[in-house]
Amino acid sequence: MPHSPHPNIMTMPSESLPSFKIALLGAAGGIGQPLSLLIKSQLHLAVSAGATRIHLAMYDVAAETLVGVHADLAHIDTPVAVSAHFPGGDAAHSLGSCLQGADLVLCPAGMARRPGMTRADLFATNASIVRSLARDIAMHCDLATVHVLLISNPVNSLVPVVVRTLQQCELQPSGIEKRVLGVTALDATRASTFLGEECGNLHDFPRVPVIGGHSGATILPVFSQCPQADDLSQQTVAKLVQRVQNGGDEVVKAKNGKGSATLAMAHCGFRMLAQVSRMLIHRDGDIAASAYVALTHADGTPVAPGAQELMARNGGLHYFAVPITLSPQGVEEIRYRIVDYLNYNELNELLPVCIEHLRKDIELGVQFQLE
Ligand code: LMR
Repeated sequence: MPHSPHPNIMTMPSESLPSFKIALLGAAGGIGQPLSLLIKSQLHLAVSAGATRIHLAMYDVAAETLVGVHADLAHIDTPVAVSAHFPGGDAAHSLGSCLQGADLVLCPAGMARRPGMTRADLFATNASIVRSLARDIAMHCDLATVHVLLISNPVNSLVPVVVRTLQQCELQPSGIEKRVLGVTALDATRASTFLGEECGNLHDFPRVPVIGGHSGATILPVFSQCPQADDLSQQTVAKLVQRVQNGGDEVVKAKNGKGSATLAMAHCGFRMLAQVSRMLIHRDGDIAASAYVALTHADGTPVAPGAQELMARNGGLHYFAVPITLSPQGVEEIRYRIVDYLNYNELNELLPVCIEHLRKDIELGVQFQLE
């Protein structure tokens, strides 16, 4: 077991200032490390934190690596406080103290893909990990306010696992399902990058909405909503769709046994974290975002306006990646209209396949909870 981090290094926020706490679960891993660096070095600037003291509480089962990463980060001269938590740590360095009082939990914990694996192949291992972490979140966080951002794969199946675990643990309905967001931003970023490259526009990358899920054919980039794609042939758009859907595989192949996307995922996870953190710190209005979310409460009623309309268009699926309006209370609106604007190919070719695959992925997560 590693020594506890040096107390001078475990810089904690001053009691007198308002503070904002992020618990990062899986902080020493391939995504966790660059994410930690971005949070420690950039988050206070990205959110204009002002007098709010940001505290990054890092947890990982790889205790020695985590303590080293923490010591390394703690030498960076930013006002973001960092603390290290690991199994076997004392009370100040436990998972419980990492989660206690967290405003936001960010979770990239779990195993990464190797060549030849699909994201679904990670399910058996990662479902147990995130279910156990969700139980700890329920035990130590305020389910009526905390936001959970899930990066761990397979997102399509693990968001249902986390949502249902948290629902099972809550003592009274807390609306937690409105505040669990599967991070799918990397798909939109890839779509934007690949379209920008195709159009030779590397300065002002187009924004491409992506709906559905975060795996293979469940990823539905809506290029029809981008004027920049208007002049492209159907074959070119089809190639771009394929490349976005297989973007993760491209990286797994390129890393040749050394894992999957970590840096681009950390970049996208950080962007989403900054967006949600800014909203929670400043409380100055709802924000537009895009994430893989639950569409129903535990009793089957819609989580927000637009959820029922989306389920009428997505074959009745209870989870879907879609543009949303988000407030500190969670999802306020499901912006389902995007489905009405799909072009013929997106609606009749891509969406049915997306739904068919996503239904199986969701079922996997739901069945796991029933076992
Ligand atoms: C990605 O899209 O790159 C990530 O989900 C990692 C993976 O396994 O593909």
